[in-house]
Amino acid sequence: MGIVKNHTSEMMKGKICMITGANSGIGKATAIGLAKMGATVVMVCRNKTRGEDALEDIKKESNNRNIDLMLTDLSNQEEILQLVKDFKEKYQYLHILINNAGVNLSKRALTEDGLESTFAVNYLAPFLLCNFLLDILQKSSPSRILNVTSSVQAKSINFENLNGEKHYRQLNAYGQSKLAMILFTYEFARRIEGSGVTVNCLHPGYVKTNMVKNFRKFVKIFYHLIGLFMRSPKKGAKTSIYLASSSEVEGVSGKYFKNRKEDRSVEASYDEGLAKRLWDVSKDLTNHHLEKNL
Ligand SMILES: NC(=O)c1ccc[n+]([C@@H]2O[C@H](COP(=O)([O-])OP(=O)(O)OC[C@H]3O[C@@H](n4cnc5c(N)ncnc54)[C@H](OP(=O)(O)O)[C@@H]3O)[C@@H](O)[C@H]2O)c1
Repeated sequence: MGIVKNHTSEMMKGKICMITGANSGIGKATAIGLAKMGATVVMVCRNKTRGEDALEDIKKESNNRNIDLMLTDLSNQEEILQLVKDFKEKYQYLHILINNAGVNLSKRALTEDGLESTFAVNYLAPFLLCNFLLDILQKSSPSRILNVTSSVQAKSINFENLNGEKHYRQLNAYGQSKLAMILFTYEFARRIEGSGVTVNCLHPGYVKTNMVKNFRKFVKIFYHLIGLFMRSPKKGAKTSIYLASSSEVEGVSGKYFKNRKEDRSVEASYDEGLAKRLWDVSKDLTNHHLEKNL
C-alpha cells in the first residue's frame, strides 16, 4: 500500500524537502501536501513578497510551522551556488529535492549569465542543484530527487541553437528544456546508481497555474477557455507528492512518471550518447562550477 493512499500527518515527519518554485501552482500545492504529512519544507523562491505570502498560506493550510523560505533567482548561477552554501550551513540533511520551478516564455530572454532563460531555469538550475546537493542527499539517504518535466518534449537537442540566437520559438524552447531535464534525469540516475539517492522525473498533467503569465495575449485567452478542463494545482501535485513520499517507489530511479505511474518519454530521451553530450555542454555552460568544491 503506497503512503499516498493512506497518508497521515506524521508520514513525512523528520524529512526535509526542498521545493523550487514553491510559491505558486504545482510547487505550492506540493509544499502543502508534504507539509500536511509532517515534512519540513524549504521553499526556494525568487520573490520575497510572493514567497512570504505563500509561506503563510502553506503554514495555515497544513497546520505545520516547519516551513522555511530561501530566496534565489534560479536563472542566476552565482545565486544557486549561494543557495547551496546557505542551505548546507543551516541544515544537516536533505531527504527530498523537488526541481519544480519552470518558465515558458513567449519571447527570448537572456539571463545575467548570458544564457537563454527557459533553458537556464528549467534545466541548468536543476543540473547544478542536483550535482551540488548530492553530498547532503547522500548523507541523508535513502533520499530522492524529483524533476518536474512535461509531456511537451522536443524530438532532440539543437546544440547549434541552445541559446536561441538563430531563432526562438516558445514551444521549441520549452520542449527542449524539458527533454534536457529527462535526458539528465536518466544520465544522473546512471551516474549515482548505488548511492542511496534516487532520481526520477514526472509530467504533472495539464494544470491551471500562473505559467500562462508569460504567454502571448491570444494564447492566454485560449488557455483561460481550456483552463476550465484543466487540473487544479492540488491534482497536479499528486504525482510529485507520490514520488516524494510513497513506499511503492522506494529504490526506483531513472524513470519518467505520469499520473503516479511509470510511462515512456520521447524516444530521444533514451539516447545515452545524447545525454553524455548534453552533460559535457552543461558543464561548459555552468562555467565548470562543478569542479568547485562547495
Ligand atoms: N501547468 C502545467 O500544465 C504544466 C504541465 C507540465 C509541466 N509543468 C511544469 O510544472 C512546473 C511548475 O509550473 P506551474 O505550472 O506550477 O507554474 P507556475 O504557477 O508559474 O509556477 C512556476 C514557479 O517557478 C518559479 N520560477 C520561475 N522562474 C524562476 C526563477 N528564475 N527562480 C526561481 N523561481 C522561479 C515561479 O516563481 P514566480 O512566481 O516568482 O514567477 C513559480 O513559483 C514547471 O516546471 C512547469 O514547466 C506544468
